[in-house]
Amino acid sequence: MFIKRLLSVLLLAGLVQTAHADASLTVNSPDNTIQLRVQQLADGTLMYAVTYKGKAVVMPSGLGMQLTNPKVLLQSFSIDHIDSLQTNESWKPVWGEQSMIQNNYRQLQLSLTDKSGSGVRLQVLFRVFNDGVGFRYIFPQQPKLNHFIIGEELSAFALTGDHNAFWIPGDYDTNEYGYYNSALSKVDASGGGFAQEIHAKTFFDKNAVQTPLMMKTADGLYINLHEAALVNYPAMNLVLNKSSYTFTSHLVPDAVGNKAYLQAPFATPWRTIIVSDKATDILASKMILNLNEPSKVPDAEKWVKPQKMVGVWWEMHVGKSSWDYSGSQVGSQQASKVPHGANTANVKRYIDFAAKNGIEGVLVEGWNTGWEDWFGQWKEDVFDFVTPYPDFDVNELQQYAAAKGVKIIMHHETSGSATNYERWMDTAYKFMNEHGYAAVKTGYVGRIIPRGEHHDGQWMVRHYLRVASKTAERHIMVDAHEPVRPTGLHRTYPNWLASEAARGNEFNAWSSGNQPDHETILPFTRLMGGPMDYTPGIFKIKMSYYNPTKTEQVHTTLTKQLALYVTMYSPLQMAADLPENYEARMDAFQFIKDVAVDWDDSKILAAEPGDYVIIARKAKGKNDWFMGAITDENARSFTQVLSFLDADKKYVATIYRDADNAHWKDNPEAYVIEKFLVDAKTLLKLKLAPGGGTAVSLVPAKAEELKLYKKYK
Ligand code: NOJ
Ligand code: CA
Repeated sequence: MFIKRLLSVLLLAGLVQTAHADASLTVNSPDNTIQLRVQQLADGTLMYAVTYKGKAVVMPSGLGMQLTNPKVLLQSFSIDHIDSLQTNESWKPVWGEQSMIQNNYRQLQLSLTDKSGSGVRLQVLFRVFNDGVGFRYIFPQQPKLNHFIIGEELSAFALTGDHNAFWIPGDYDTNEYGYYNSALSKVDASGGGFAQEIHAKTFFDKNAVQTPLMMKTADGLYINLHEAALVNYPAMNLVLNKSSYTFTSHLVPDAVGNKAYLQAPFATPWRTIIVSDKATDILASKMILNLNEPSKVPDAEKWVKPQKMVGVWWEMHVGKSSWDYSGSQVGSQQASKVPHGANTANVKRYIDFAAKNGIEGVLVEGWNTGWEDWFGQWKEDVFDFVTPYPDFDVNELQQYAAAKGVKIIMHHETSGSATNYERWMDTAYKFMNEHGYAAVKTGYVGRIIPRGEHHDGQWMVRHYLRVASKTAERHIMVDAHEPVRPTGLHRTYPNWLASEAARGNEFNAWSSGNQPDHETILPFTRLMGGPMDYTPGIFKIKMSYYNPTKTEQVHTTLTKQLALYVTMYSPLQMAADLPENYEARMDAFQFIKDVAVDWDDSKILAAEPGDYVIIARKAKGKNDWFMGAITDENARSFTQVLSFLDADKKYVATIYRDADNAHWKDNPEAYVIEKFLVDAKTLLKLKLAPGGGTAVSLVPAKAEELKLYKKYK
């Protein structure tokens, strides 16, 4: 057998080993904690399996592809060639959670020919990192396969048992669900519970879930399944066979039921299995970024700017003003009409607030015509992205913002009509360049046009990347709402700062909201693929403040909203509440002013999915640290040593914590702010209220501060 012939060569190189007498190869991670085993059965079928410190993570699982044109089942193969290599390098992201990233893996590449007689050639590429395994399929250039259609991908993930899982229903169109936490055997994606309230939902199988999928095994392993570098291919849902605890891939179809139209050479996205016995390692993993291509955006570091923004935004969500000119389009339905939010005077108010507080961006939604009938119509031409309402003076605001050193952030809601957006794109981005806009927030609420296509299918995946590259050409940064879930492409397109692609804070304004554990789950699920525009920073927690008949509320305390700026990583962070709500509490707003959005280093100090997350990050190019600690519905106490601080420095710690009687439901806005001197040996006591959190800024102490503040005890 070919595997056996090659072994001597690979063994010499020290990269692979024989595991058994049968035809199998093993590849260890550089630190030997993770082992990949690839095995070929007598009929030519290929299986892969993964262990962590000797414990099974993925049991022998199938690989393959089903093509519909030409009609070929690629599942049993002859092995033509085996290659392996080892890479250990480091690289600098344009922005990120740390300024340097290590990329250290061993690779195995199998070159295969279909055994069923088609002659089609396929490669499977595995990379084994210290934090997990990635694999992808490659269709090399070949005479027998030029254009082809994928019917389904046959990747399987056979798990070892009935793991505890954090999941949302499989869906072709939306990821704006609350998370379910259940054993795998209890997965029921048929709806109900935290189902999303506003989006086109495309349910297809009650045993299907989306990735990133987070699991914990009975013997303490944390396993995360997702994908990396989703380019020109549909997103992958996972369908569970409950008798074997095996997931198989289910790609999002197009309008006629096909999955992907491809041309060789082509490489699929990577399937990722991140594993550790420590939950904190899952959050620290950079494997998905490492599996993406380096930046394709020239000079990105010169013009891509991580930043904070405020916006004419929350006021529409809480029903205080409207997106449309006539005053009837609000997030939370009002009985009577309200003012149009995006009027020149109101936008100036936000610009003033941003300028005064060092906030770079002001998002303005509802500035352009079309909002009267944008929602739920499945209409092709709703917006043109260049025509303002009569009360929004583009030129005057351009000058006003420039004079104050602030940038207005463009809003392009497409109402799902990607065809219309594609027609307007060039004109719309030119308009932005001419009027001083450096960033755009896009949106895809509702059913997609081309009709029958889905948010997560190949057509739309290509669309989002077209937006990323066309904006890059014009030096525009992007924040995409309602796109496909991210897969680390922000490495390749650093101008694509953030995405929503999950259930954001806005749901707390007008729906059953996000349960208190939501933000402790997101880092382990949605954020594994990339930064989220979660829109934290809500200070007026209960919507009855705006309208006494309302019972909706944010399901956190006020200081948990502050801690989210650290625990919910994004280079674009909104200070989402209204300026007047911040002006009433400038002491607490100080943390939002101070907190960085780009980092030299990040320390995941403690974490458990669904329970708590504690992270400290060092501001890029500075000696300041920021720490965020959040809990679910349970009160929790921690003692955290500040050993990440410089050993020879004293710092002023400003602690923004829940008041002793705070509670997300009963008393959410009660907080205490204290200042102390701390150092690397300090044991900081964190007391989090139910649904609560603590935010801490740590800044090297000046001489006079050493006298002013007491030592923390
Ligand atoms: C949904 C987005 O998530 C939200 O931020 C935006 O305000 C509305 N769509 C309107 O575009
Ligand atoms: Ca949304």
